[in-house]
Amino acid sequence: MNTSYITIVKPDDMHLHLRHYDMLDFVLGDTVKQFARAIVMPNLNIPIINTKLAINYRNSILNALKNIKGDIKYFEPLMTLYLTDLTTADEILRAKESGIIFAVKLYPHSATTNSSSGVIDLFKNCSKVLEMLQVIKMPLLIHAEVFDHRVDIFDRESVYIDKIIIPLRKKFPELKIVIEHLSTKEGVDYVYSSSSFTAATITPQHMLYNRNIIFSGGLRPHYYCLPILKSEAHREYLVKAATSGDKRFFLGTDSAPHDIKAKENNCCCAGCYSSYNAISFYVKIFEEAGCISNLEKFASFNGADFYDLPRNSQTLTIYRNENVVPSELRFKDLTIVPLASGETLQWHV
Ligand code: NCD
Ligand code: ZN
Repeated sequence: MNTSYITIVKPDDMHLHLRHYDMLDFVLGDTVKQFARAIVMPNLNIPIINTKLAINYRNSILNALKNIKGDIKYFEPLMTLYLTDLTTADEILRAKESGIIFAVKLYPHSATTNSSSGVIDLFKNCSKVLEMLQVIKMPLLIHAEVFDHRVDIFDRESVYIDKIIIPLRKKFPELKIVIEHLSTKEGVDYVYSSSSFTAATITPQHMLYNRNIIFSGGLRPHYYCLPILKSEAHREYLVKAATSGDKRFFLGTDSAPHDIKAKENNCCCAGCYSSYNAISFYVKIFEEAGCISNLEKFASFNGADFYDLPRNSQTLTIYRNENVVPSELRFKDLTIVPLASGETLQWHV
């Protein structure tokens, strides 16, 4: 294929970390340029555990939107609630009735950034919430990794699927589940074997790189995210699933900005900043797989359909235009090293 541009229905980012305060002002513009909507993750320092906090957080995103320069006509943040052992079914109903909350996020306790309020015992403490989610058809978004030092970090997703997701599915056959940032062959096979009530988001980083990049010529913190990058066989399997057009797979960048001081640190935070070039990455992946005709399904249709949202009416055009990813991005006293910094890309929004 050698066209000079591609136009698709404007995509949605179904897994995004926007943070708060200056970091929010810093990163929001990158998302808004490329996406009409985004599922906004609730793992702030003070987690978004109820509807009131979600409304306030949404208002700060809408305020930040006002300061974005350029021709931004429309962006909708789709808010989520952070599930804890204490979340009640009533809170879920309130969330639904607010009209601004579209999903509930399950972080296993201690599994990732800001997950210390995450769930300790899903089956014991959250049954009523899960029942309610199934009734109101609100998706449960899962960070599917066990947190257990005895389980190898590369196996934590497949063990989570066996230990938690398979029994969960037995108890709640029609609960909408999204396995977030799917990273393994076992995960892909689980989704293939599931009904249309199960879906998964796939990030650019898990399809662009295998785990060798973390150790290439030294230890490279900007490629450290959770779930951790996997081996080449897993990467290839993920690309096949994402580019297949199968409606159970859709776009979620898991763009997770951290200031350079937190990344280049004795104890580096997990997260890759993938928003800056998100769509260019996905175009590269789909073009190299020879499946560019399925890009629009993955980026713009499958996610909206799973969430029962109308498909977007605007479009996005991506141009073939060689460009180098900047080594750093700066705003006030914050610095982010974007994913693929220094690499040359062939596509640009
Ligand atoms: C995310 C973050 O920094 O908030 N980090 C990451 O590595 N993906 C949290 C998450 O989604 O696990
Ligand atoms: Zn995430």
